[in-house]
Amino acid sequence: MNDENFADYGLIDFNIKGDERGSLVAFEENHNVPFDIKRVYYIFDTKLGVKRGNHAHTTLKQVLICTSGSCKILVENDSGRKEFYLDKPDEGLYIGGLVWREMYDFSPDCVLLVLASEYYDEGEYIRDYDKFLKKISK
Ligand code: TYD
Repeated sequence: MNDENFADYGLIDFNIKGDERGSLVAFEENHNVPFDIKRVYYIFDTKLGVKRGNHAHTTLKQVLICTSGSCKILVENDSGRKEFYLDKPDEGLYIGGLVWREMYDFSPDCVLLVLASEYYDEGEYIRDYDKFLKKISK
């Protein structure tokens, strides 16, 4: 990971295991993924112009990998906002801490794979942007 705000978010380069047959990337909890992996999901078939996310989490850690196609992810914490363009199956965006995220500009072939540190819990989401701003200003 090589981002100045590494504690909250940062890019991870994954090794590609390749041979004459093609390529493979493996994810291992607490090895190349910095948490226990409790849940895996993927977002695909996203319609044109759609924006997803629009929330923060109180405890969840995630790594997002664009295994096919491309998308943009905006992250915001108490240091400000930063936009990432994901278009490589061997690059992941780690997001932990109290970070607002928005995902958009999905290409039609985009498959966004998400590794998560917790089971799905709607109660752990912060979906109100003003509440998020209040929390990070404390
Ligand atoms: P949502 O949180 O709105 O997705 P995004 O943050 O990408 O915009 O989730 C969409 C729906 O899927 C919503 O009904 C909740 C459900 N869901 C699960 O059941 N399990 C999960 O792990 C996730 C991420 C969502």
